[in-house]
Amino acid sequence: MTRPVLLALATIIGLAAASGAFAPTTAGAKPISYKLPDRAVEFKPGPNLDVVKANCTACHSADYVQTQPRGPKFKKDFWQAEVNKMIKVYGAPIAEPDVGKIVDYLTATY
Ligand code: HEC
Repeated sequence: MTRPVLLALATIIGLAAASGAFAPTTAGAKPISYKLPDRAVEFKPGPNLDVVKANCTACHSADYVQTQPRGPKFKKDFWQAEVNKMIKVYGAPIAEPDVGKIVDYLTATY
């Protein structure tokens, strides 16, 4: 390339940059609005709800129950194992007579 051609190119690039031609475009950007899910889910109404509320709300919200899988494989045995895990692994202080009531509630309600 000859010198005048290089100069002309440099001028064009310089002008384009100064005029904002290379600036990122914001055309068409609209504010996005969306609704976040409720922060804390409540336990659904069901049998022994009071026992569940008394034993299952100290460490975490009902979201943990709400977000468990559904279906025939996730019934009584599944919930029995969950409640046992809360007691044995995480140290939930749940009285033995309440365990069955909680499992019944979870099986019937979720
Ligand atoms: C002593 C504290 C404590 C109590 C009380 C407690 N949990 Fe948990 N729970 C935990 C911890 C810790 C986790 C695991 C948190 C994590 O993995 O982020 C958990 C997780 C869960 C999960 C998610 C699945 C899993 O296995 O990790 C479910 C469902 C659950 N708890 C149900 C219950 C129910 C039902 C009760 C009442 C019987 C209960 N929890 C009471 C501490 C507790």
